[in-house]
Amino acid sequence: MISRRELLQHSATLLSLTPLRLLASCVHSPTSIEVEPVTNTIRIDLRNPEYAVLRVIQGSQYVSIQHKRVSLIVTRVSSDQFDAVSSECTHHGCDVNLYDPLVGGLSCDCHHSFYAPDGTVLGGPAPKPLPKALTIFDGVHILKIDISTF
Ligand code: FES
Repeated sequence: MISRRELLQHSATLLSLTPLRLLASCVHSPTSIEVEPVTNTIRIDLRNPEYAVLRVIQGSQYVSIQHKRVSLIVTRVSSDQFDAVSSECTHHGCDVNLYDPLVGGLSCDCHHSFYAPDGTVLGGPAPKPLPKALTIFDGVHILKIDISTF
């Protein structure tokens, strides 16, 4: 039999975890943003609600570059570091999933290739890493992604 005090302690613990669980579920939401850069640099302002998922460490988001027909997976890997890689699997070109904190990487459902957020191959048949873009973060709100290599 559980005491009233234990019940209250368990309830408090569950309530304190609920926002984290909600936040974690938001981190997985696949969001695609169309970007039409004038130069070869994408400028992402994290204050923009469209990029809210990238305010959270392990947040991951698709960014589609229309004029280059490229889709990137941008992942916040720490408070001051982001990775941006092509979402096209290097095996046979399927779309790679967003970063999943539960498995610690980006997975491809077609034949189970598995990548680190920086595109490094961690498993599966992928013959080479996902192409990577240079990211520069000002440490506050602005993330710049150099897409000149795409
Ligand atoms: S296309 Fe991704 S593993 Fe085959």
